[in-house]
Amino acid sequence: MATVDIPVALATDLSKHATTPATHGQVTQVTTEISPSDPIIKQLTIEEKVQLLSGRNFVSTAGVARLGIPPLKLVDTVNGVKGSDLHNGTSTLCFPSTACLGATWNRELLTRMGKKLAAQAKSKSAQVILGPSMNMHRDPRGGRNFEFFSEDPLLTGELGAALVNAIQSEGVGACPKHFVGNECETKRRIQDVTESLDGRTMREIYLAAFQVMLRNSDPMALMTAYNKVDGVYCSENIPLIQDVLRGDWGYKGCVMSDWYGTNSETAALKAGLDLEMPGPSVFRGASLVKNVQNGTVDEKLVDQRLANVLRLIERTAESHSTEPEKSLNDESGNCLAKEIGTEGIVLLQNRKSVLPLQITQKLAVIGSAATTPPISGGGSASAPPQYLQRPIDSIKALHSHPEFVTGSEGVKVHATIPICAEDQIFARNGEHGVDVSYFNDRIEMPITEEFQKIPQVVMLGRIKPGLKAEGFHYEMSTTLIPTTTGLHTIGIHATGSFLLTVNGKEVLSETVSGITVEDFLFKPERLEVRCQVEMKAGMPYFLKLVVQPHKPASMTGEPLVHGAKLCYIEEYSDCNAISEAVAVAEHADATIIFAGRNSEYESEGFDLPEITLPANQVKMIKKVAAASRRSVLILHCGNPIDVRDFIDDVDAIICAHFLGQEGGNALAEILYGKVNPSGKLAVTWPKKLEDTPSYQSFPATETARGWEISCGEGIGLGYRHNWVNSPQFAFGFGLSYTSFELSSLKVTRSNTAASVGDNEIIVEVELSNTGPVSGAEVVQVYVEDVASSVTRPSRELKAFEKTHLEPQTSETIRFFIKDKYAFSYWDEETRCWRAEAGEFKIHVGDLVAQIHLEQGFSWKGL
Ligand code: BGC
Repeated sequence: MATVDIPVALATDLSKHATTPATHGQVTQVTTEISPSDPIIKQLTIEEKVQLLSGRNFVSTAGVARLGIPPLKLVDTVNGVKGSDLHNGTSTLCFPSTACLGATWNRELLTRMGKKLAAQAKSKSAQVILGPSMNMHRDPRGGRNFEFFSEDPLLTGELGAALVNAIQSEGVGACPKHFVGNECETKRRIQDVTESLDGRTMREIYLAAFQVMLRNSDPMALMTAYNKVDGVYCSENIPLIQDVLRGDWGYKGCVMSDWYGTNSETAALKAGLDLEMPGPSVFRGASLVKNVQNGTVDEKLVDQRLANVLRLIERTAESHSTEPEKSLNDESGNCLAKEIGTEGIVLLQNRKSVLPLQITQKLAVIGSAATTPPISGGGSASAPPQYLQRPIDSIKALHSHPEFVTGSEGVKVHATIPICAEDQIFARNGEHGVDVSYFNDRIEMPITEEFQKIPQVVMLGRIKPGLKAEGFHYEMSTTLIPTTTGLHTIGIHATGSFLLTVNGKEVLSETVSGITVEDFLFKPERLEVRCQVEMKAGMPYFLKLVVQPHKPASMTGEPLVHGAKLCYIEEYSDCNAISEAVAVAEHADATIIFAGRNSEYESEGFDLPEITLPANQVKMIKKVAAASRRSVLILHCGNPIDVRDFIDDVDAIICAHFLGQEGGNALAEILYGKVNPSGKLAVTWPKKLEDTPSYQSFPATETARGWEISCGEGIGLGYRHNWVNSPQFAFGFGLSYTSFELSSLKVTRSNTAASVGDNEIIVEVELSNTGPVSGAEVVQVYVEDVASSVTRPSRELKAFEKTHLEPQTSETIRFFIKDKYAFSYWDEETRCWRAEAGEFKIHVGDLVAQIHLEQGFSWKGL
């Protein structure tokens, strides 16, 4: 690989800046840093300094070639490290999404994954991976929850740290995000999270996830969230960045904004935002240079920010490269993606032990996800996979008689009309695709004509060379040949005014204005306009779409976006689809039904309106289950689903998350018992949305002061809530094909540490596999404060360990938990963690032990 030389001043004594990858529970913090008075900083002109403080395009920062300072490339994310092109980008190894990683409860697995991610980042010539996402699953409607680990800060923080340490052990930087309070997508760019940073809710839940992660790892970078906290944007929030992050926690890495999440020049600099991303810069250009030169902004401030950016460049020295992006094929990485999938899949119900299935049974496989699986939620976390496994093929591949496996597509699961299938459209050259012509207004000759396979035009941040920004339009045309006769639907997504003709006749026109990049990238429903056209099978229909671009909506620094997409679907009926599926199920010994959500329902950019499944899916599940001898329901989702409508109709239920490119094989191995399920829910599944603690205070709402969101449920989110109706499936729950027993719980205390809070409780418990097959179990340790002067949750997770056991074997599992982490709560008045002397209960499974803390104490820091 062509590596980039780092100048001597930056590269000197890399070892002094390096962080030792931490083992669980310990981290060696970096002790020295490039200081604002470093010689390299003195050699830079003010223009160069300012240029280094922001991106130069969507994924890169500017370097300074004169001094050999290389640019940085920063790319999304831990579910698949993608390249620089947002559309048609270089493919990558797609792992299961983060909610699945959370359900593995397995640090060792994520350590292996982090190393693979670093290799993928290097294949894209990137130095920083923009992840993991450390926000909380606060409400099951949160659009990005599939991208987050859990509702619990300890689980989130420890799994996040495992990834950070492993990525960085290979010389690539990690950038945990979004610091902090980005739990709701509605108006995420402007919403104000009205929780005090020194309130218990922020400290014990939302900040705590980052605190635990920083206790166990030393990420080279950290990304601030879009939202405000207490009226101030996170990217310019002094209490957040300086007091908590740099002050209380001693963080020394590089702090960058989320994309277009910098909102000021001086305020962000003063608060400690080192890097504005992406570029071209909005706040760190000529005006900042001028303000430094005329003394309005102190150059020392610029130098302080710069020191952290240079240090990030230095710490990632090993991964600097100018090689073109490529797709790195990694066989063992693919096996790992499968293993993570099998460990994260959660078996929620298994009546009559219908699972595991026999490889000799006649199987019916129903649902479109069996052939087109949703491998990720939507938005920046979704990456182009290297390949896609069709679960039905994986199910056949492990079967003794593949011909015994029969499939049926089931009902449609799309929220918007899908892009027109390539094999139904023909361009002028006779190939599958469309012709696109670009014109400057009032000039008849096109400036460019292109043939494309995909019926979509995207101009993000730039327009075609030769087009005049003040006035241009473009045309997309193709010949469509339907496969059936009927009332077919055409959907158009266009940013601007458009006119669609079919065989020369106008069928649809509309003006879609005010489209932001967010809308364009994440909200297809905001753009879609549909019409229905009567068409005959096998007949050619000439479609022409003319688009006159709009004036894009402006948001801070966002690039301009122009685009159009041709979507199409033929007439279809849910009733017919269900009848076909029922007919297939009737002849099988067992039916596997695929249902749930995809990236159109769970995505960055918007929240879910409800947690029930669309009515057509519910109907299909019920009818097919009724016709089946045995039924297994596979739910793809990043968020809990309200299962009341069908839980009693099906025998088994599997939560399959979004499983990445090895999802088909992972599922097949679980279904046949080749791997015993060991995933545990990392989030509580309520029976119904209304039971959720945050039900009344989610999403953000408009008030006289602007868009606001408060954490009305306080520290009582997820399992910490006092549930009136017990949840459908509890946090930490997940079935296995074997049985485990816990016994001999023993809790002791060691009082030998120099400082009182550093004393430890030692929890020992015996775990036995009492069933017929080998498997893994997660032992979870919760603490309860029996009598407290403040209200505390009845359980708080304080430690966990996943252990694999052969049948009829046992192992003693030991946990050492520091008193300060086991017993304390955040005391708002003293701005300290505080533990009160008295009785505490330790819960491990159904076992409970009581211990006594003789002396109360307070502590600060990590
Ligand atoms: C997301 C970030 C992501 C960034 C770059 C933003 O929209 O919030 O998580 O890293 O885009 O793609």
